[in-house]
Amino acid sequence: MTRIITIDGPSGSGKGTISRLLARRLGWHMLDSGALYRVLALAAGRAGIDPDRAAELADLARNLNLEFSGEKILLDGEDVSRLIRTESCGNAASKVAAVPEVRAALLDWQRACAKEPGLVADGRDMGTVVFPRADVKIFLTASPEERALRRYKQLKEKGLDANLSNLVAEIRERDDRDRNRSVAPLKAPAAALEVESTALSIDEVLEQVLEQVKKTFPDLQIPECD
Ligand code: DC
Repeated sequence: MTRIITIDGPSGSGKGTISRLLARRLGWHMLDSGALYRVLALAAGRAGIDPDRAAELADLARNLNLEFSGEKILLDGEDVSRLIRTESCGNAASKVAAVPEVRAALLDWQRACAKEPGLVADGRDMGTVVFPRADVKIFLTASPEERALRRYKQLKEKGLDANLSNLVAEIRERDDRDRNRSVAPLKAPAAALEVESTALSIDEVLEQVLEQVKKTFPDLQIPECD
């Protein structure tokens, strides 16, 4: 069985950063499941399909011509890595992600990412639905204000437009939608290690996660930081 670590949590909790650093450190594969929903939202917008047209959305999801190439995400060969990181695309992603048919259509695709030597899977339902038998489950949280501030800095660094109070409101709204939807709602998986990161640095969060990984895989060789 391929070793799997799931990192779930709300938007802006730092899952993406921690998952990427962890996957790099271990030399494992990484699944950014949020990017899948973001690309689907982008493709649906371009095709003029609204989130209430479930069957068409699921069809689109099954036929997405998607490729992860290093840090780049290609849709029909076009690099959409930057386009999918906007707040509006994140909000649209949250809407398509609430459609049960869409989630079902993307399940096999996500599970196929579990390959040797191991997978770090980042999302909302990685430990609950997609990989319920994962070896290590982490649930990463932070206050909405802190998450909005982190997102604000990220967007500014990328030269994108951002407004802090709008971001707080949008994060709360997205949390609500992600936690209260009927399929695969955002919640801590059973037996997950919960890490509350509001007052922690990235290194401190990574340290806590690595401790858990070492406990689970005592024989795993983990290279020191480079
Ligand atoms: O993590 P993110 O912000 O890139 O995710 C974008 C949206 O996709 C988020 O609002 C919820 C949804 N999502 C989901 O429902 N399930 C996942 N496993 C990952 C993301």
